[in-house]
Amino acid sequence: MSPVPVFDPVSPQALASGHLLVVILAIGCLIFIFVCAWLAINAIRFRARPGQGEPYQEYGRRNLELAWTLTPAAILAVLFVLVVISVQQADPPVATASSGDPPAPDIVVTGNQWWWEIQYPAPGVYTANELELPIGKPVLIRLESDDVIHSLWLPQLRGKTDLIPGQTNYMWIQADRPGTYLGQCSEYCGTAHAWMLITATAVPQAQFDAWLRQQAQPASTPTTAEAAQGAKLFQQMTCVNCHAIGGTDAKARIGPDLTHFGSRKTLGSGVLENTQQNLETWLRDPQAVKPGVNMPNFHLTDSDVRALSAYLEGLK
Ligand code: CUA
Repeated sequence: MSPVPVFDPVSPQALASGHLLVVILAIGCLIFIFVCAWLAINAIRFRARPGQGEPYQEYGRRNLELAWTLTPAAILAVLFVLVVISVQQADPPVATASSGDPPAPDIVVTGNQWWWEIQYPAPGVYTANELELPIGKPVLIRLESDDVIHSLWLPQLRGKTDLIPGQTNYMWIQADRPGTYLGQCSEYCGTAHAWMLITATAVPQAQFDAWLRQQAQPASTPTTAEAAQGAKLFQQMTCVNCHAIGGTDAKARIGPDLTHFGSRKTLGSGVLENTQQNLETWLRDPQAVKPGVNMPNFHLTDSDVRALSAYLEGLK
């Protein structure tokens, strides 16, 4: 996967900090060039010459001292104002109702070691690691954590916000361009922290609505004998202790919801592309693919691996 792109903002929130970065970089560069040039000019012009005695000593000059105190203070004051403005743009307040309660979020993202649970509360959809967003619409996300502190960072959409156990945070994001934006956990949270990737895909509102309706459906029934065998195995084995599949008896919320697993692009929070072959590799030994992951190696037989992967990949 390509590295997380930091310099291509596509949302008002990310543009606010992007513009601020450009302004601060420009001012910093100007100061750097000025200081270097001034130093070079003076080092050459006033260099020591043979026969020259001790140079003239200056003991304090009020105007100069005022200038080099007030100029940086003025620059910092301007930056302070710009920072306050861009913080307000990047992080508009979450309006509270008269009751003082925060509004219902559009999406709830919960950090887990080491994956993201993504819930769309309105239709009651659970998915993982792949956010779907309607283009151009501000979306309120509630951030929670089930274990340790994580941090959600989608650099093209906005800055980082922590997911803290026992403390609810909110963030606004608004993707103004269609596309898929890569993000990741940016707070060290344990062994597989680096494999806690997330994507946000922005699609037109109609396509988003269709996606949400489709995700709200219970899981499809297997269409092949092998997949049917996989469905049976899934319910008989310990899979159901951690995973949920809508429309079946599997209801656990320890690991990712697999109701529409086959419709996701990656597995293991971005560690592998979601293909049947990769899923088989994963099922044979998850620890080898993503060291530290909570899913143990169940030492499945080859036929069980094939049946389970056929079933899960069929869950579109
Ligand atoms: Cu979650 Cu780092």
